[in-house]
Amino acid sequence: QQQEKATLLKAYEFAAKFYHYIVGNTEQGRAAKGYLTARGISDKLIDTFQIGYAPAMWDTLVQQLEKRGFDLALMERGGLISAKHDGQGYVDKFRERIMFPICDSAGKVIAFAGRAMGDAQPKYLNSPESILFNKSRTLYNMHLARPNMRKMQQAIIFEGYVDLIKAWEAGVTNGVATMGTALTKEHASILNRNADQIVVCYDGDHAGQAAAYKSIPLLEEAGSRVTVAMLPDGKDPDEYIGQFGFDRFVREVIGASVPSMKYKLLYIRKNFKLHEDGDRIRYLQSAVKLISTLPSPMEREHYLKQLASEFPDSSYEAMKLDLHEILLQS
Ligand code: UTP
Ligand code: MN
Ligand code: MN
Ligand code: MN
Ligand code: MN
Repeated sequence: QQQEKATLLKAYEFAAKFYHYIVGNTEQGRAAKGYLTARGISDKLIDTFQIGYAPAMWDTLVQQLEKRGFDLALMERGGLISAKHDGQGYVDKFRERIMFPICDSAGKVIAFAGRAMGDAQPKYLNSPESILFNKSRTLYNMHLARPNMRKMQQAIIFEGYVDLIKAWEAGVTNGVATMGTALTKEHASILNRNADQIVVCYDGDHAGQAAAYKSIPLLEEAGSRVTVAMLPDGKDPDEYIGQFGFDRFVREVIGASVPSMKYKLLYIRKNFKLHEDGDRIRYLQSAVKLISTLPSPMEREHYLKQLASEFPDSSYEAMKLDLHEILLQS
């Protein structure tokens, strides 16, 4: 198996170089290059992230691998190519897609994500898990971000490849991405080993915000201090940067990330009609309940005071009584 792993790693490395060559140097890669340029991804970024293009033909990569003597059955088991439906021979898995190599923490290519240039589905096609690639332990860009996150003791988690790449261009070089899978315990523990503080910077849409909310306990249970960066109008970081620029992204999104408790209070707030008495009281009760989960009395006091100052019609004393009751019951 060690031998198979080594061979597969060589094949993935070759495929990444091959796809990268095509995007930069060939006629076939021209439209892909145009697509990347239109999305604001410069030649320098294409190089840094070894972005490539998989051409439209059925067996471009298969032929190249065969020519170099790679065992195609192993390549198929390793998720790099696909078996034909009739079982006779192999075809490329990725066709007409922008290729993002996914590396392990040592920087070795272990998988790909291929983005359709048009409306083809799925938008991103990912390599299957293999003897090299375990999704729940892999974070996109960990190999480039790790030295920076260790230095800063801060890591940033994005949802998307392009979000992370644009953030990198903005000077945010301590970011990783979860690649469409939910954050796992393993991800959380890997991040905690490299940085004290984690900034969750997911898309501003409902799905992204719900995922951010869910990621908080996982990251905190792993021992990290968590803040959440918020994006307006359902935008993702790439869209935000497109509209407001790099500087504002760094200052007003990343720089303005809020502590997890503040985020949770804002998040649950959307479920209540605060101008209605009954709903407002129910919000305050839920908020106090969240605050009661904080381990430190000083922190609890801080958020309780903040809550009380936001709702001057409701008494701080009453909130405090509610809090004490919850703490007694638990
Ligand atoms: P999004 O739908 O937010 O895509 O999914 P995106 O990153 O903004 O993509 P662009 O900007 O249109 O290129 C977030 C992430 O979820 C994963 C990818 O990792 C994507 O970056 N995803 C999404 C998939 O794996 N497959 C899909 O079909 C869609
Ligand atoms: Mn290059
Ligand atoms: Mn999204
Ligand atoms: Mn997005
Ligand atoms: Mn996007």
